[in-house]
Amino acid sequence: MSSLSLTTDRLVLHDFKMSDLPRVHKYASDPEVVRFMEWGPNTIDESKDFLRMTISHQKDNPRRYFDLAIVKKAENCLVGGCGLHVTSPHNREAFIGYCLSRDSWGQGYATETAKGLLSFGFSQLRLHRIFATCDPLNLASARVLEKSGMQLEGRLRENKLIGKRWRDSLLYAILEHEWKLNN
Ligand SMILES: CC(C)(COP(=O)(O)OP(=O)(O)OC[C@H]1O[C@@H](n2cnc3c(N)ncnc32)[C@H](O)[C@@H]1OP(=O)(O)O)[C@@H](O)C(=O)NCCC(=O)NCCS
Repeated sequence: MSSLSLTTDRLVLHDFKMSDLPRVHKYASDPEVVRFMEWGPNTIDESKDFLRMTISHQKDNPRRYFDLAIVKKAENCLVGGCGLHVTSPHNREAFIGYCLSRDSWGQGYATETAKGLLSFGFSQLRLHRIFATCDPLNLASARVLEKSGMQLEGRLRENKLIGKRWRDSLLYAILEHEWKLNN
């Protein structure tokens, strides 16, 4: 089975390898990066477990979990992780997510990543609907989803336990025909 690699203007999104551990642990152990996540800040063992788990899914057939490293082409430097998980093969539905090291924020990389994942989902996996959620306080992520062409569908109440607190989520989604209008 060949390794998955998606290319955007400035980034390569590719299958994780065990050797990515130091760069993955850099963002996954940063409390500011994981502030709105259900996981983290990771210990080194948790980052290793994440990599082992995600690498094991690379062999699934059919594959439903696509967790990919975000690598800056110019410097060949891993700056984050992203994922597309098929939630329902029957409904051809998936969700996407992304996470970047703090020193790579504010340069459009998350938007480029989200657009790359949408393109992969609709053009290669032939999905019908792709959704994403973000914390209402995560204004940067909400903006990324808007800039990627996704529409706000509503607010899920207290669907995430983050730390010891129940948090709401904003639900964004885009349908196949909406994506095709601009791509
Ligand atoms: C959220 C995150 C992915 C954004 O990545 P990024 O590469 O900085 O995003 P982009 O540069 O593509 O776009 C960010 C947009 O949000 C805007 N933004 C950033 N901080 C903001 C804030 N506090 N309030 C409002 N808008 C904000 C930026 O101005 C930009 O919009 P613009 O292009 O219209 O100016 C990044 O901060 C991150 O990894 N955070 C930690 C992990 C995380 O929260 N992941 C998402 C989980 S749902």
